[in-house]
Amino acid sequence: MDKHEVSFEDKYSYEHSKGYYSKHQSFRKHLTTWFEGRMVKRASGIAGNPKVILDLPCGFGRLWPALIATGATKIIAADKSTGMLQVAKEMTPAEVLSRVTCIASTATEIELPDKSVDSIFCMRLLHHIHDKNYRLAIYHSFQRVARDTVVVSLWSQNSARYQRNKYKKSRDGKKPEEAVRKGDRYYFNIQEMEAEFIEGGFEIIGHTDMLPYISPWRTYVLKVT
Ligand SMILES: C[S@@+](CC[C@H](N)C(=O)[O-])C[C@H]1O[C@@H](n2cnc3c(N)ncnc32)[C@H](O)[C@@H]1O
Repeated sequence: MDKHEVSFEDKYSYEHSKGYYSKHQSFRKHLTTWFEGRMVKRASGIAGNPKVILDLPCGFGRLWPALIATGATKIIAADKSTGMLQVAKEMTPAEVLSRVTCIASTATEIELPDKSVDSIFCMRLLHHIHDKNYRLAIYHSFQRVARDTVVVSLWSQNSARYQRNKYKKSRDGKKPEEAVRKGDRYYFNIQEMEAEFIEGGFEIIGHTDMLPYISPWRTYVLKVT
């Protein structure tokens, strides 16, 4: 068992992954994916439109059309869950799937050689990971595999959604520190995260927000040093 394993990682069985896919077929979720795809496009531009990309974790391939649209010529997609990868293969249209190479891999033990991709896109993973040492281990692994940049999304506290969560928690009599958490996901302090990226060996090239101050989703583009 990976020493950094946390509970959210165990839930992506084949059945759970199918449910996750189905949940994302609503109009609201499609709209969110559209906005997220725009964020991916802007982040790719900041990163210099990398050609060889690792999408990790790829989930069911929700962002593959957006990654293909960036002009990437090679997309490797990795996820820890073989169940999720199975769902991705079953549900993705053939013309999209044919552009992607799927591998089973964790974020800390990536099954690829050193410096084998231009950029790693890590969307919707960090907001699940509360343990700073685990995040640093992920950055270390990304530094090994990426030649140029790493693109990561997270939940920022500078957002209306965080303020609403904070209000609800205090109304329910929860301790103030509980406000950073929503189920198994966490809102991060931006200054602390930026310091952490630098501690992790990156230079921050830029960031882009999904819907500034409304949505908590922020994506950073980090230069591998
Ligand atoms: C919320 S989904 C997001 C997937 C995708 N990036 C997206 O935006 O749709 C989280 C994914 O992370 C995967 N995962 C969890 N822990 C992981 C780890 N340590 N290494 C690689 N993948 C992991 C899960 O199997 C799941 O597919």
